[in-house]
Amino acid sequence: MRAIGYHDFVFAFMVTALASMPCLAAESGEQLYLENCAACHRSDGKGIANVYPALAGSEVVLGSGIDVALVLIIGRGEMPSFNGTISSTDMASIINYVRNAWGNAGQPVSAQTIESLR
Ligand code: HEC
Repeated sequence: MRAIGYHDFVFAFMVTALASMPCLAAESGEQLYLENCAACHRSDGKGIANVYPALAGSEVVLGSGIDVALVLIIGRGEMPSFNGTISSTDMASIINYVRNAWGNAGQPVSAQTIESLR
């Protein structure tokens, strides 16, 4: 066995540095949901009674996929529009997460579909 040398150290440093760069690690739908939606709809998707509707079991979430996309793009009532802040790729990730979390089961929606709705 050889001793740990300078190059091993440089290599380990570079791996750590690259792994911590956000641009190289696309966020998952779950992470994006927790950052953008869970403050109101809660991490368990149950919302808050009479204030923030549950997304678990929601017909809007489980419909064709267009309904939920339009809510995110246009906003609704007290809910802000995310048109200016979330990319189509990230919106698709969030939608596909909420359509399949908490017992929901919905077909995937593509970023192209979202893009065409904007
Ligand atoms: C500031 C609080 C808030 C945030 C943040 C928020 N929402 Fe909402 N959302 C609401 C409210 C309030 C409504 C009900 C609007 C109405 O019908 O008047 C709603 C409605 C919805 C609906 C329709 C549900 C139904 O069954 O009618 C969906 C789907 C939805 N939100 C998804 C999301 C997603 C996904 C995110 C994150 C990208 C998000 N919301 C972020 C407050 C919020």
